[in-house]
Amino acid sequence: MSRIPVHVAFIMDGNGRWAQVRGLSRHEGHRRGASVIKKILRAAEKSGVKYVTFFAFSSENFSRPESEVKFLMGLCEKFLKKYRKTICEKEIRFRTIGDLSQLPFNLQLAIEKLTQNTAHFDKFHLTMALNYGARSEVIQAIGKLLKSEDVNVENLTWKDFERHLYTKDLPDPDLIIRTSGEQRLSNFLLLQSAYAELYFTKTYWPDFNEKEFLLAIEDYGSRERRMGKINDKTND
Ligand code: FPP
Repeated sequence: MSRIPVHVAFIMDGNGRWAQVRGLSRHEGHRRGASVIKKILRAAEKSGVKYVTFFAFSSENFSRPESEVKFLMGLCEKFLKKYRKTICEKEIRFRTIGDLSQLPFNLQLAIEKLTQNTAHFDKFHLTMALNYGARSEVIQAIGKLLKSEDVNVENLTWKDFERHLYTKDLPDPDLIIRTSGEQRLSNFLLLQSAYAELYFTKTYWPDFNEKEFLLAIEDYGSRERRMGKINDKTND
């Protein structure tokens, strides 16, 4: 394979529609969606990707019916407990981005435990975006920046700002994959995706698989990333 992205981020969309066309409950769609995460993790590791980030729960998702929010929180806690052993054995570093303070206490505990237990790993990085929203990330970063003692407002650089974002320890995503046919970022990693390649597929997340993932990686490899510069060949 040609060029492999270092960091791939996923907007896992379409769980509800996947369930609806099958006459199943939305919960069933989310349950199937959660099982896909594990398969994609394995495929990403195999392909040479180093960082994966999954948009599991946006800050806006709190406006969904209480029963769905509760179900998603429970599913996330179960996922972390079920795969804790595998994640540690495979030396995967686990992180979250987002405001954890509003999550159920038991989920916060599970997150804290796995984050601590894997903090020394560097082979492969799994990040879950939970109660994440790019705009609130920026607002909280500004707050921290203003409180920090070494801030020099006159000569502020991107580096000064970036270290207050939730993603401070992560490289910017090279590729963002969104399933279900919607073509937007929905408040996900808005600043970090400044130069990311975007890949959209009509497949609903519960049907997303290794084959589709590899198609996205191949497509990424064929793209020319100029990052604001000009191509050498046109430089005359
Ligand atoms: C979008 O589908 C998906 C979500 C809001 C949540 C994503 C969650 C999972 C894949 C499973 C739970 C997560 C973990 C970490 C185990 P949608 O409900 O917006 O689908 P729709 O647009 O078709 O209604």
